[in-house]
Amino acid sequence: MTDDAAIRDRIDALLAAMTPEEKAGQLTQYFFFSLPPEAQDDAAIGLDVAAQPRAVEAALARGGAGSLLFVTDPAEINRLQRLTVEGNRHGIPALFGFDVIHGLRTILPVPIAMAASWDPATIEAGQAVAAAEARAVGIHWAFAPMVDIARDPRWGRIVEGAGEDPYLGAAVAAAQVRGFQGDRIGTPGRIVAGPKHFAGYGYGLGGRDYDEVSLADADLWNVVLPPFAAAIEAGAGNVMTAYMGLNGIPATGNRWLLTDVLRDALGFEGFTVSDANAARNLVAHGFAPDLREAAVRALTAGLDMEMAIADPAFDRLPAALADGAVPQEALDVAVRRVLEVKLRLGLLDDPYVDEARAAAVLADPAHREVAREAARRSAVLLRNEGDLLPLDPAALRSVAVLGPLADSKRDTLGPWVFDFDLDETVTVAAGLRARLGDDVRVDVAPGIPVGQRVFPSMFDMFGGNAPSDPEGFDPEAELERAVRLAADADVAVVVLGEWQNMIGEAASRSSLELPGRQLELLQAVVATGTPTVLLVMNGRPLDLRWAAEHVPAILDVWYPGSQGGAAVADLLVGDAAPGGRLPFTWPRTVGQVPMVYSHLTSHEPENQGRRYWDDASTPLFPFGHGLGYARFAYGEVELDAAEIDLDGVVEASVRVRNTSDRDGEEVVQLYLHQRSGTAARPVRELKGFRRVAIPAGQERRVAFRVGPAERRYWNAAARSWVRDPAVFDVAIGGDSTAGFGGAFTVRG
Ligand code: NOJ
Repeated sequence: MTDDAAIRDRIDALLAAMTPEEKAGQLTQYFFFSLPPEAQDDAAIGLDVAAQPRAVEAALARGGAGSLLFVTDPAEINRLQRLTVEGNRHGIPALFGFDVIHGLRTILPVPIAMAASWDPATIEAGQAVAAAEARAVGIHWAFAPMVDIARDPRWGRIVEGAGEDPYLGAAVAAAQVRGFQGDRIGTPGRIVAGPKHFAGYGYGLGGRDYDEVSLADADLWNVVLPPFAAAIEAGAGNVMTAYMGLNGIPATGNRWLLTDVLRDALGFEGFTVSDANAARNLVAHGFAPDLREAAVRALTAGLDMEMAIADPAFDRLPAALADGAVPQEALDVAVRRVLEVKLRLGLLDDPYVDEARAAAVLADPAHREVAREAARRSAVLLRNEGDLLPLDPAALRSVAVLGPLADSKRDTLGPWVFDFDLDETVTVAAGLRARLGDDVRVDVAPGIPVGQRVFPSMFDMFGGNAPSDPEGFDPEAELERAVRLAADADVAVVVLGEWQNMIGEAASRSSLELPGRQLELLQAVVATGTPTVLLVMNGRPLDLRWAAEHVPAILDVWYPGSQGGAAVADLLVGDAAPGGRLPFTWPRTVGQVPMVYSHLTSHEPENQGRRYWDDASTPLFPFGHGLGYARFAYGEVELDAAEIDLDGVVEASVRVRNTSDRDGEEVVQLYLHQRSGTAARPVRELKGFRRVAIPAGQERRVAFRVGPAERRYWNAAARSWVRDPAVFDVAIGGDSTAGFGGAFTVRG
C-alpha cells in the first residue's frame, strides 16, 4: 500500500477499534530465541532458554506483541505469524526484525571494512544483497546500519560502524539505507533500515560498552548527528535508541533527544524502537522509579516500540492510560507509526512469506560475487616495502599460510552473524590453495593456540561462536612446526588479529595488543628470513608497532566474509589490487586513544606530535591511508574562484596521474581547513572523496564542489549552525596528511 490517504484511513479505522491492550501490544517487540537446552549454561543475559519462547507465544496468541526479533527460518516465521494474525482481533501481523548487520546467509565484510572501501556503490550493493536474503526468509526490518561515530577503538562496536569521521560516516549511512530499503519502504525484496543507536553510543567512557556518555554540544551536532541526518534524509523508516545516558539523561527516556532533536531538528517521521531492554533499563539507570514509570517516560519522550526479552515495561501502558499518566494522543501517535510501516510493507494484505522461494534466494551465486568484490574493495594495504606484493604465482613454489585465523571459517566471517553456512565459507588458506593450484605447495598451520576472552561473550550461547583448539593441540610442537614451514617456504603469509568474539557488542578491551601468542609467532616467522606478508583480521586498529617496522607487507583484510579467502587470494596475487583506505586513525598504542585527524589545536601546535614525553603523539597510520599496486601523482589544486560570498560555491579540482604500468584505483580525498571563525575549527576536515579508477599511464581530473553545506558547522556558543566569513585552505590528496595546496576567501 503506497497511497498516503488510504493508509491514513485504514489506520484511523484500526485505531478506533483497538483496545489499549491491543495498542500496547503493537508497541511491544519480543526476542524469540529457539536455543537448544545446552545454551542455558552460556546464556549470560538472565535468559530462561526454555521458558522465554513459550511466554512470547502466549503474548502473540492474545494480541500482545506487534513485532518479533531473532527468527530467521521462513517456516518458523510463518508459524509465528499465523499465531500473531489469528491472535489479533484485527488480524494485524507482526513485523519481523533482525540484526542483518553484514549479510544473512551470504556474509559480507564487516561494516567497518565496507566503510574502508570508501565506495558508496559497493556498500549499497552489499546491503541490497543482505536485504534480498532477509526479505526472502520473512524478515522485514534490519537493526542496521549502525551509524555511531567511533573514536575509541577500545569500544568493540567500532567494527559495526564507519569509523571516526562524520562526512565519510554520512555517506556510508546513506548508502546503506538505500541498499536496505531501495527508494521507498515497501520496495519488493528490500527491508526497512533502522540506523542506530540514537545517539552518542560510540562515546562511552573509557571505550567501555554501555557506559555513560558525556558529549559536548559541538561534537553532538558536528560529529555524531550527521550520519543519522544522512540516514534519515535517505528515507530510513526506523531509528533505534541507545542504551546509555547522554549527558546524564538515558537516551531511551530523553524527550529532548527523541523529540526535539530527532523529530523536530532532523525531521524523522518513522518509528523508533528501544535497544533491547532499554526501556526497562530506565529503572537500572536510576531514572525511573519502577517499570510503570519507565514505560510512561519512554513513551512520552518519543519511544514508539519497546524491544524486550521478557516482561516488557510497555505492558503497563494500559493501566497508565487509565489513570491519566499517559495521554491517549501519545499512545495513538506511536501506534500510528507502527501501523504505517506495516501498511507500507503490504503486511496487512500479505503477511506470509513464500517458504519455497527462500532457499533459491539464499543460494544465489550472484550474492557471493557481490561479497567477494566487496571484500576485494575493502582491504587496505598498510605497508608494502620493496613491492613484496603482489606475489607472482608463476615464480612461487611454496607458501606457508600461518596463524590461528588463517584457516578459521568462523573467524573469517566476523561477529554479528548467525545464519551463515560454514561449508561455503572460504578461509585465507582455502582461497590461496584454490588460486595457486597444484603447482604451488601451500602449507597451513595455526602455530599457536587460540586466544580466549577473560570474561566470556554473551554471544557464546550461539554454538560455535567461541574459538577452541583441536583435541590434543600441543602449543610448543605447533609453534616449531609453523616456524619450520615458514623457513622452508618462498613466502610466509601470517594471518593475525582478534578472534571474532573479541570484537563487537560487549567486546570492549583495555588494550590493543594482538591477543594470545600471536606477536611471538610473527616474530619467529620473520626471524626465519622468509619474506613475510602479514594479513590483519580485525575490526579495530591493533598495536602493530613491531610489524610496521619489521614486516615488509601488511594487508588489512578485516573480517572479509563468506568469500573472504577467495578475495584475499585475488589481492595477494594481483588479480585485483587493494584500494581501500582507513576509516579511522590508527594509533600506536592504546594510551593514545581517542585520537582523530580532525582535532583542534591550541598552544604550541608545532609540538602536536610530542604531547607525550614517552612516545610520539602521532598515529601509526593516518586516517585515509591505504596503498595500492599502482602509483599516483597529484597535480596542483585548482580553484575556480579566489573569493566567494557566504552562499557561494567553489569548485576545487586536481589532476591525478597513474604513473605506474598497472591500472589502479585511487581514493581522492578533499580536506578543508577554516583559518579563523566564531569558533576554533579543526586542523582539517574531510569534505569530499571519490574512488576513481585510472588506467596505467593515464590522468583523470577530479572535481569537488565546496559549498555552504561543506562550510557550515554547529557553534556551541551560538547554539546554532553558523557559516563564517574566513579564509579556507584546501588539500586534495591520497590521505589525511595531504598538504594544503590552495585557499579561497569567503566574504562576510
Ligand atoms: C543490542 C544491540 O545493542 C543492538 O544493536 C541490537 O540491534 C539489539 N541488541 C538486538 O539484537
